[in-house]
Amino acid sequence: MSNSMKGMSLITLEEFSPEQVQALLSQAIELKRKKRARIFPRSLADRNFCMIFQRPSCRTRTAFAIAAADEGAQAHAMSPQEIRFGSGESIKDIARVLGRMFDGIAIRAYDTPLIEEVAEHAGVPVWNALTEQHHPTQALADFMTLQENGIALSGAKMAYVGEGKANVVTSLMVAAAKLGVELRVVTPKGHHPEPSLVDRLLGWRHNDRTKIVVTSDMREGLLGADAVYADMWVPMEGNWDIPAMARDFRGYQINREAMAMTENPRALFLHCMPAQHNLQTEFARKHPEAIEATDEVFDGPLSRAIDQAENRMHTIKALMVSTV
Ligand code: CP
Repeated sequence: MSNSMKGMSLITLEEFSPEQVQALLSQAIELKRKKRARIFPRSLADRNFCMIFQRPSCRTRTAFAIAAADEGAQAHAMSPQEIRFGSGESIKDIARVLGRMFDGIAIRAYDTPLIEEVAEHAGVPVWNALTEQHHPTQALADFMTLQENGIALSGAKMAYVGEGKANVVTSLMVAAAKLGVELRVVTPKGHHPEPSLVDRLLGWRHNDRTKIVVTSDMREGLLGADAVYADMWVPMEGNWDIPAMARDFRGYQINREAMAMTENPRALFLHCMPAQHNLQTEFARKHPEAIEATDEVFDGPLSRAIDQAENRMHTIKALMVSTV
């Protein structure tokens, strides 16, 4: 069976086989090495990509732009006001037109079905740059970061501490199921992922070492972890009862004591960012009770959060090079 990813869209990562996910990570590590050596294969010369971000982004949008530029392609940012998905023009028509102009389309949207519909009609690869439900390019960077730190993914133990229904952890679960990772989702009661989703992912049986454990017990979730992954407790967009969310997550902050619960002195700290880890944001000054990690851990020697952010670009570049 061919392992080629040419023409494939990335919507949830479920579309990609375990071998293809692993190939993307290995390729990203190689592309990072080449970039460090100032070697740019420019394998996407003269290609044009469209970036439609209906929601704010720092990392993902710049990752697409720089990945394209490094490979000799142009990334064109289109405002959602210009692309009137479904309001002034049907999604199908817009997708067909963009597919004639561009060689690939990155979309950050609210709902996944919009991206699925564009992918169905565009005729070129479409990449999910985050929806409410999924964040697949983030998961690629996260597991690349473990791999480049010498952690074998099959059998690796990662503890995600945060909202169990969030897009980030959903994509981590999908990737973990493909890669044989033991993922512990550590989250308060009422914030657990949908059991049907966990059951479905475990039903794939891609890899006997895959485990997805959902627990509200920090000690159970963190013991033996190779990496502890924090996420904001409150999404940056939307009207949330922030004090109530912070009350739910009290005791789930990643600090020195939490890292010690791993009983692994080499356990890495990961964060998808944006992060609240000090009082340097308006959000944290207003809601100091909702700070999910301490500065000591976030800026500590075992934190790989900034590497992870950089790896967004290398993994997205691997995705573009492999699918276009
Ligand atoms: N982690 C992440 O997706 O960051 P941005 O929202 O800045 O793209």
